[in-house]
Amino acid sequence: MVSLSKTTVGIFKDSKICKLIIISCLIFISSFSSINLFAQENSDCMECHTDPSSVDSKVRVDHVTGEVELVSMVVDEEEYHASAHGGEDFYCIDCHADLEDSEGEHYPNLQPVDCVTFCHDDPAATFLEGSHASLMLEKGVQLPTCKYCHTGQKSKMNTPRADNLEHRGDTIEKCGSCHEKYYRSYRNNLHGQVTAMGYVGLDIATCVDCHGQHTILNSTNSESTLGSENAKETCGKCHPGAGASFVKHVAHPGYKDVGYYKSALIALKNIRKDPGEIKGIVKSPQTLLTVLFLAYVGLLVVTFAQFGTHMLLSWLGSILDDRKENKSDHG
Ligand code: HEC
Ligand code: HEC
Ligand code: HEC
Ligand code: HEC
Ligand code: HEC
Ligand code: HEC
Repeated sequence: MVSLSKTTVGIFKDSKICKLIIISCLIFISSFSSINLFAQENSDCMECHTDPSSVDSKVRVDHVTGEVELVSMVVDEEEYHASAHGGEDFYCIDCHADLEDSEGEHYPNLQPVDCVTFCHDDPAATFLEGSHASLMLEKGVQLPTCKYCHTGQKSKMNTPRADNLEHRGDTIEKCGSCHEKYYRSYRNNLHGQVTAMGYVGLDIATCVDCHGQHTILNSTNSESTLGSENAKETCGKCHPGAGASFVKHVAHPGYKDVGYYKSALIALKNIRKDPGEIKGIVKSPQTLLTVLFLAYVGLLVVTFAQFGTHMLLSWLGSILDDRKENKSDHG
């Protein structure tokens, strides 16, 4: 015992060993406290947020649109893990940054997640500075937010991946909610009919496959995805070898749109003042399509009219015959 205590005293007298011991003790203690400091493992959050008895639904007001919604606080693990941010290297607090230092229970109202500042300033710049966003502002339309277009089925949190088929279908409806006329004509085109039947695979064209995602420009702009040169590439993704004549295909047939006929009539009226206008309409592939459509409808009408007249006459004939027979029976 004596000799042990002597060595102990010896160790403490040796300042190098003493320092070493203190440092190792500090490392040991801090390794415990780091568990506390980083209590915000995803699993800690999930302990409450996957348990419907710990978290409920909550009324929330969207800070942009002012819409009031009832939002469940239960995180759907399956949808979250399938989402664009559901991988191993994402932490809840990467996005819910105001919870970085909190432990366990937290204050109820958090800051809305900021998609742009730390992660996505690039797509944000192309979207916000693009002509699409500025046109919306010009028309007094409120800009859709990132979360409006990139939202999951169960929560805004589950940013769908680009190949999520349900999301591809949703995107058509979202573009269509502001562009009703083009939405309707898209539905009269083969692409839109196939997607309307529920097939929205990556190999069928939705609005964004032709028009682009954030940098949407007018099709007459040569820089746009549908500019005469770029269109070959845009359509060529799915129609290999698409050439200049193929891309003239009418993606938005106007033959069921009253507005199209109105503008043609107005152009006819103004034929003296502005002959260019009617020339433009005549030259457009839209007109050939409309003429074919009208010829087809005309043919149907004539055929059915002939058929109908024939039926009507033979019916009248048989009634007259019946009457004649009845008369001769009585007579
Ligand atoms: C002790 C249980 C518990 C833990 C642990 C917990 N939460 Fe919560 N959380 C709740 C409850 C309860 C609500 C609903 C609060 C309300 O009704 O206002 C909530 C609400 C939220 C909300 C919505 C806030 C809002 O503004 O509407 C977010 C986001 C959230 N939690 C994220 C997290 C994250 C990220 C973690 C981990 C860092 C976490 N929570 C850990 C219980 C918990
Ligand atoms: C990529 C960013 C991101 C990550 C990572 C993330 N969230 Fe969220 N979370 C959001 C967004 C966006 C919302 C929608 C509300 C908002 O805009 O702030 C949200 C909302 C929530 C809500 C409120 C319910 C709802 O549907 O609006 C809860 C609860 C929540 N998150 C918990 C978590 C938990 C737990 C984790 C980790 C497993 C996590 N979040 C990881 C972005 C994220
Ligand atoms: C009008 C709808 C719309 C809005 C608003 C929008 N996006 Fe997108 N974004 C899309 C579409 C469509 C895609 C193609 C992939 C997909 O559908 O998810 C896309 C793709 C992306 C991608 C992946 C491809 C890339 O360019 O890196 C990111 C990241 C992205 N958006 C971030 C944002 C951010 C951040 C905002 C807000 C500033 C935003 N988006 C606003 C429609 C939109
Ligand atoms: C919040 C409403 C809104 C949404 C959502 C929206 N747009 Fe637009 N878009 C507009 C407005 C407003 C204009 C300006 C011209 C107009 O009134 O048509 C416009 C213009 C356009 C143009 C013509 C661009 C030009 O330079 O002339 C195209 C193409 C277009 N949008 C396609 C899309 C596609 C594809 C989507 C879906 C990713 C989409 N839009 C989503 C409101 C919207
Ligand atoms: C197959 C490719 C394709 C698809 C899919 C498509 N468009 Fe178009 N879109 C075009 C072409 C080509 C034009 C130009 C000629 C025209 O107006 O028909 C155009 C024109 C437009 C315009 C007028 C402005 C401009 O750039 O000329 C808008 C707005 C528009 N489309 C919106 C949409 C919306 C919304 C959807 C989905 C509901 C959609 N488009 C789907 C190819 C497409
Ligand atoms: C994302 C893929 C995709 C893109 C982009 C796309 N299409 Fe298509 N398109 C299809 C599919 C799928 C069909 C359906 C039947 C088929 O395979 O021919 C189709 C059918 C057609 C048809 C009907 C005739 C045919 O070949 O069966 C035409 C014409 C056409 N597309 C033109 C275009 C033009 C022009 C563009 C560019 C403005 C374009 N498409 C862009 C996928 C696409």
